[in-house]
Amino acid sequence: MTPQPHNSTGSAPGKVILLGEHAVVYGEPAIAVPLNSLRATATFTATGHTSEKLVVDAPGIAVHARLDELAKVHPLAAAITETTRVLNIAAPPAGTLRVASALPLAAGLGSSAAITIAIARALAAHFAIELTAASAAQIAAAVENLHHGSSSGIDPTVIAHNAAICYTKHKDPEFICPHANLELVIADSGTTGSTREAVNAVRLLHSNDPARYSGIFAEIGALVVSARAPLEAGKHAVLGAVLNANHKLLQAIGVSTTFLDTLCAAALRAGAYGAKLTGAGTGGCMIALVDAPCARNVQQALLAAGAKSASITPLMPTQNE
Ligand code: PMV
Repeated sequence: MTPQPHNSTGSAPGKVILLGEHAVVYGEPAIAVPLNSLRATATFTATGHTSEKLVVDAPGIAVHARLDELAKVHPLAAAITETTRVLNIAAPPAGTLRVASALPLAAGLGSSAAITIAIARALAAHFAIELTAASAAQIAAAVENLHHGSSSGIDPTVIAHNAAICYTKHKDPEFICPHANLELVIADSGTTGSTREAVNAVRLLHSNDPARYSGIFAEIGALVVSARAPLEAGKHAVLGAVLNANHKLLQAIGVSTTFLDTLCAAALRAGAYGAKLTGAGTGGCMIALVDAPCARNVQQALLAAGAKSASITPLMPTQNE
């Protein structure tokens, strides 16, 4: 008799770092929100034949291979092995794991953590094991650390909890509630940025001149602290000025690009309250803080300035898991 295949699915949102990227690696606080309009999904279909192997099918990144054919450090392989380790699963199950993601890769929107957590959720569902947000974040942090040794853990944490957070490395996240009248335009510069290379470049700067760069990280940390009240009260102008100041400090640590700067300037000219790069930088996305009346203008201005895409999204998370 042919065993009936059955599907187990998992999904996870992307994320936007509102303030504090890079400095968060050095122990400063940062604020991040989930991005539910762009998600990663994983679907595991069991074959029922235990002698068969796990096949990973991720057409978006041109992967179709047996798990044992992928390098151990391949992000998809690492996501599966780390999940089986954390959940005490003896061996990867036989079947096909299909992975898809609407998140652009290496663009600062948390695609790798979202994919890892979607995979962990699909496998946990298959084995009917409860996967807590803390365990999901732990799995994604381990995979991230394989690729850039000093990850802060902010992406795994905000994505696993699917809630807006103020995050400090090695501490439990503080949940925050952005005001409903705050919106973002998220624009993709169209070039990718390697988180690993950006984090390593900043580490080199810091090790060559610790006093100067620790000072900049502390300034970024102070901006994050100052943003909490206007973020929760919906004070666009105050919060926008904090975003602009954070972008200047990101320029000072060398992670912006001429084009990201051009996009930020275009957003401000079109009426945005503030604008900055988001995530590791050196490419990837920028964000502009807007309200409903100016959102479309800013979106159009970003597209006219050459952004690959520009989407409007509320800052307040729309869905909880
Ligand atoms: O995942 P990305 O590329 O958005 O960058 C994460 C933010 C960093 O602060 C640059 C790195 C980290 O681990 O916090």
